[in-house]
Amino acid sequence: NEQTLTDPFGRRIAYLRLSVTDRCDLRCGYCLPKGFKGFEEPAHWLTFEEIARVVGAFTALGVRHVRITGGEPLVRKDLPNLAERLSALPGLDDLSISSNCTRMDVLAEPLYRAGVRRLNVSLDSLRPQVFKEVTGGDLDKVLRGIKAARAVGFAPIRVNTVVMRGVNDEEIEDILAYCAENGFTLRLIETMPMGATGRGAQDQYLDLQSVRRRLEQRFELIPDILPGGGPARYYRVGATETRIGFITPISQHFCETCNRVRLTVDGTLYLCLGQENSYALRPLLRDGIGEADLVAHLRSAIALKPERHEFKERPEKIIRFMSATGG
Ligand code: GTP
Ligand code: 5AD
Ligand code: SF4
Repeated sequence: NEQTLTDPFGRRIAYLRLSVTDRCDLRCGYCLPKGFKGFEEPAHWLTFEEIARVVGAFTALGVRHVRITGGEPLVRKDLPNLAERLSALPGLDDLSISSNCTRMDVLAEPLYRAGVRRLNVSLDSLRPQVFKEVTGGDLDKVLRGIKAARAVGFAPIRVNTVVMRGVNDEEIEDILAYCAENGFTLRLIETMPMGATGRGAQDQYLDLQSVRRRLEQRFELIPDILPGGGPARYYRVGATETRIGFITPISQHFCETCNRVRLTVDGTLYLCLGQENSYALRPLLRDGIGEADLVAHLRSAIALKPERHEFKERPEKIIRFMSATGG
């Protein structure tokens, strides 16, 4: 009789998003992470031992999927070492990562060897100038990183594009063509009003239902289901093998099927991306809590999971920065 975690709304929680840093080497306008200068780590950050304990307690409760996020996870020192520890946990059968890929040229190989398999990469433009304006970074470096990841065997690779009106909305067909050529799945994302910057970015918000209708004039979009249980609604593009996903937290939310919670680098468990309901785990870990008690606390935390976010109804409500939980 395997243990499971079920929230007050009957949703089975099987997916943990693990933020390993709130720092990033890029500066996307809708996110605003902390800067990145060196590898020094504040004392309030969980150590790899502490992270592995929490993830271990979650796997004991039936969590099967862990996605490593940031900020930008690859700026966390020795990340492959953490990935290796997580891979070794019994019961974990899907270890994935969401990255901007600026450092993948160097880290793809050690991360793959450590057991990370599925990769989601943030890529908002294929035009160097637009990419620079949105992220502050160098497109070529990212494309090299993505190539390196594909070469070492990451699969599936999914490209995340936050659609911004007047910035990259005219480019979607080009990004789709790039994904089709490379065997990647494209996911278009609606901008969420996270933190003060997220609210500013709402000027560029675009309802993806209109984008889907535009694409449907050119391609037949056939509804499809892909593994992962995430928020995207997928379609097969015509008769091709290419898939496109729409992540529409604002125009068509997916909270009734939510299967996840989030752990920040300081050891706070957030029960919903768009709500502040949280549970502090770090004090427990540093008080030397035992295994059974930790598991019991996780159950108490899940009881705090709210029914849904209110990005649409209350866009002015300030939620912590996106970079605290990495989406
Ligand atoms: P897989 O389905 O496992 O491939 O991953 P994912 O799509 O959940 O992860 P990813 O890190 O690539 O996130 C893509 C986008 O979905 C980001 O903008 C996230 O903020 C958003 N997202 C992921 N989970 C949730 C969620 O529970 N609620 C909301 N509102 N957005 C989410
Ligand atoms: N709204 C929607 N998506 C966002 N991301 C970061 N900030 C936001 C936001 N405010 C996305 C990035 C990244 C993913 C993990 O989260 O595109 O690919
Ligand atoms: Fe960095 Fe990702 Fe935030 Fe962009 S979305 S600034 S790549 S953490």
